[in-house]
Amino acid sequence: MQEKILDSLRRKHDYVSGDMLSHRLGISRQALWKHIQALKDSGYEIVAVPHLGYQLLSVPDRLFPSEISCHLNTKAIAKKIHYFDSLSSTMDYAWQLGMKGEPEGSLVIAESQTKGRGRLGRSWLSPKYKGLYFSLLLRPEILPSQAPLLTLLAAVSVCEAVFEKAGLEAQIKWPNDILFERKKIGGILTELNAEMDAVRFVVIGAGINVNSDKKGLVPHASSLKEKKKEHLNRVELLQEILRVFEKNYFRFVKEGSDFITDKWRHYSFTLGKRVRIACRKKHFEGEAVDIDSDGGLLVRRDSGIIDKIMAGDVEHCANP
Ligand code: BTN
Repeated sequence: MQEKILDSLRRKHDYVSGDMLSHRLGISRQALWKHIQALKDSGYEIVAVPHLGYQLLSVPDRLFPSEISCHLNTKAIAKKIHYFDSLSSTMDYAWQLGMKGEPEGSLVIAESQTKGRGRLGRSWLSPKYKGLYFSLLLRPEILPSQAPLLTLLAAVSVCEAVFEKAGLEAQIKWPNDILFERKKIGGILTELNAEMDAVRFVVIGAGINVNSDKKGLVPHASSLKEKKKEHLNRVELLQEILRVFEKNYFRFVKEGSDFITDKWRHYSFTLGKRVRIACRKKHFEGEAVDIDSDGGLLVRRDSGIIDKIMAGDVEHCANP
């Protein structure tokens, strides 16, 4: 009911008569008043003026499902939204949904996480109301070996959306770090549930430092607010990420990965740089020369041999 009330208030930038609203929604004036009070308690600024009605003045800085869904216009992504004020990790919740047979596209989003995690067992700081911390459940008909491409696809989608909404040209450090001016502003984590030759489901998580202040960030990290010097609308940024992600995802499922690797090259911070690789027992340095069609990083050692890296850590060596 509250979503319907918001819908009506949003449609008109003027007062909406209480009589008309309660009639249209089939509820009493008293019930309408109670719903309006509940919306106000959630942070919506609504004024009530006798003989004129209600007017929506502002919406809270919260990632409420009703805000995310408003004019989102996606076909599969975020059609269902699981919202939490606080959660241990959106990855775990989405994984459980996957196990229970939840359909593709469900979004799990939290205002803060108590055990947010990143790649290679690292933790992900998730201060409340400051960032975007979400996971998407996908059921793509791809081979398990193609799953790393979804990480690249998600990273590219975040960069495209950040450019559209914040005007900032972010870059990607292979495979999943989103950087701006060499500082990490976001990351992607992909977890896979698969048989030998078929994917059951994939959970793609994204963490983006949107409005975090310097003191809430680790030294090598930054936030969009720090870079842009202004507070950003998290709902609008998230909506753009979801729209762009869906477009890229449908295209990937239909026509394969070439366009993703092309876009990834455009945003890459890693290619052409000297890198130090640490994966399993291998440690070596070389030049990151390209990305392969399966998302692997191609690194030319000083001996001229080219290695393909599918997992592990990439460190950028200091400029000579
Ligand atoms: C990385 O840079 O290593 C990836 C970070 C991914 C963080 C996001 S926040 C939402 C989702 N839930 C988690 O626990 N992790 C991902």
